[in-house]
Amino acid sequence: GRVAVLLGGSSSEREVSLDSGRNVLEALQSRGVDAVAIDGIPALAKALAAGGIDRVFNILHGHNGGGEDGIVQGLMEAFGVPYTGSNVLGSALSMDKIRTKQVWLSLGLPTPQYREVHGGTSAAGGRMPGAAEKNVHALAAELGLPVVVKPANEGSSVGISRVTDDAGLDEAVALAARYDGQLLMEQMVVGDELTVAILGDVALPSIRIVPKGQWYDYNAKYIAEDTQYLCPGLDGDDEDEIRRIALAAFRAAGCRGWGRVDVMRDRTSGRFFLLEVNTAPGMTSHSLVPKAAGQAGISFEELVWRVLEQTLE
Ligand code: DAL
Ligand code: MG
Repeated sequence: GRVAVLLGGSSSEREVSLDSGRNVLEALQSRGVDAVAIDGIPALAKALAAGGIDRVFNILHGHNGGGEDGIVQGLMEAFGVPYTGSNVLGSALSMDKIRTKQVWLSLGLPTPQYREVHGGTSAAGGRMPGAAEKNVHALAAELGLPVVVKPANEGSSVGISRVTDDAGLDEAVALAARYDGQLLMEQMVVGDELTVAILGDVALPSIRIVPKGQWYDYNAKYIAEDTQYLCPGLDGDDEDEIRRIALAAFRAAGCRGWGRVDVMRDRTSGRFFLLEVNTAPGMTSHSLVPKAAGQAGISFEELVWRVLEQTLE
């Protein structure tokens, strides 16, 4: 049958998705799969209505016209067309960093302490019932600086600021508010940045990311050539532990198929803190899931095939 590779779209991660999607398309075609690229959700809706699409490889990143927030999953469900990755619930939940944390906390999974921040103006927002309406300086004082201010629904570090000084808070909130109506402020974990790719029921070797600059930001993710990646990121029991926590976090968020769980490790205590789950993680030449797969002896082509294969089950 014919496979649609869903890419591009209109989210802030459009360019990343085009890059990921082209790589996925090439890998499928080199395996002899009849694969076509479809740019964005409206085009997919038309193609599904016209018929002839048998399954979808979803590599559309982000939300607001991206494919990681449950919306396109609902469309594909409505047409009865199988697709890669998480379903409506797992996608929608994982796109929302605040509610993901609430689920993890309820299950005793570790994630940095946070406060919801009201400062967002976008129509996509919507305030959570009962959430505090304290000003951002009071919230930061409760958590203790440094903090990280983030849009609740975003990807690729877009709209994120690290704030070490109270004077920087308002600007950080204003930046995040450009991307989302829901914002959060998190205690900053000072230590190592790690990630764990999930493929099927298995956590692949962790990756420890060592950016040349201070942070693994958009530039370090996609542009810089000097970001270092150590894989596996940890040894022995620590490596077992991070994989165990990541897989538990992925399952707790209702995710399936494949994804990537981002984790911080506190330098002083050695404790792990879960940040978020990415349900259509990057597949660019700079991206992390292909690196972890490579370490596990799985080529890029094989990785793409294994993700697609899950739609045949
Ligand atoms: N949000 C980007 C695509 C990632 O997680 O890889
Ligand atoms: Mg992300």
